[in-house]
Amino acid sequence: MATASKPISNAAQERFDLRGKVVVITGGGKGIGKIYAREFAHAGAKVVAADIDGEGAEAVAREIAAEGYEAIGLRVDISDAAAVEVMAKTALEKFGVIDVLINNASLMSVLPRRDWMEIPVEEWDRVMDVNLRGMFLCCQAVAPAMKARKYGKIVNISSSRVWEGTPLRLHYTTSKAGVVGFTRALSRELGPHGITVNSVSPGATLSETQVASSSGNYLATRVEGRAIERAQVPEDLVGAVMFLSTQASDFMTGQTINVDGGKAMH
Ligand SMILES: NC(=O)c1ccc[n+]([C@@H]2O[C@H](COP(=O)([O-])OP(=O)(O)OC[C@H]3O[C@@H](n4cnc5c(N)ncnc54)[C@H](O)[C@@H]3O)[C@@H](O)[C@H]2O)c1
Repeated sequence: MATASKPISNAAQERFDLRGKVVVITGGGKGIGKIYAREFAHAGAKVVAADIDGEGAEAVAREIAAEGYEAIGLRVDISDAAAVEVMAKTALEKFGVIDVLINNASLMSVLPRRDWMEIPVEEWDRVMDVNLRGMFLCCQAVAPAMKARKYGKIVNISSSRVWEGTPLRLHYTTSKAGVVGFTRALSRELGPHGITVNSVSPGATLSETQVASSSGNYLATRVEGRAIERAQVPEDLVGAVMFLSTQASDFMTGQTINVDGGKAMH
């Protein structure tokens, strides 16, 4: 027999509430970042989709706006300090505050999988420039506005490759291990300012870009060994990223949540 449902208490609702929150998502123009942008907007957040693919970012913002939600799309190379400053300034001018920064942009799907001895040093440097310096610059750019309000949420995207030691993109795996150390140390720097810094490590995920750059064989092998033995899709990551973006995670910082269907038991 159905029981009458009681309304959810205000406290419970507030804890997970993203309505009106301003969320900057780097790499928000395609792949998994595009799904974050859409899902955060659907949850009532005001989204800044920032991507080196400016057309992609603008298209994402247009789609979101066409559905009646709020978003802007910006072209930003996160490894360029001046461009990142403009990103933060534009977000603040448009929406007044920055509540959440999701450091999702990285060089991944564009990198060939190859033996580590064949990685050109220029490619190694570019991966570090985008995946680590870019994250550092984005945090530096938004921190003053978060500090001023004594509140903010930073979510850095790592990779389950770090727990597995996945080879063939050695520079990429190394950079994503750097994200974990960066997250831990920055959480101690920003904790006194009421800002949490956490990380999510996705398993191999069928983002549009990952699918385009991988063979079916490769993707099939990434499913083996998971407790939940199915392909991972971008939507599987949204819950963990949203949790780390809300009040519900305010006493949790410096942590990395692994979302890979239970392959690496981090
Ligand atoms: N797809 C996966 O299997 C997987 C697994 C683990 C971790 N991740 C991580 O999740 C995130 C999203 O993954 P994805 O599959 O969408 O990857 P992706 O490589 O397609 O996406 C990265 C995004 O970052 C943008 N970008 C690249 N360089 C940039 C720069 N200099 N400035 C601004 N934007 C830039 C790209 O245009 C793209 O939109 C990445 O951090 C990736 O490393 C993905």
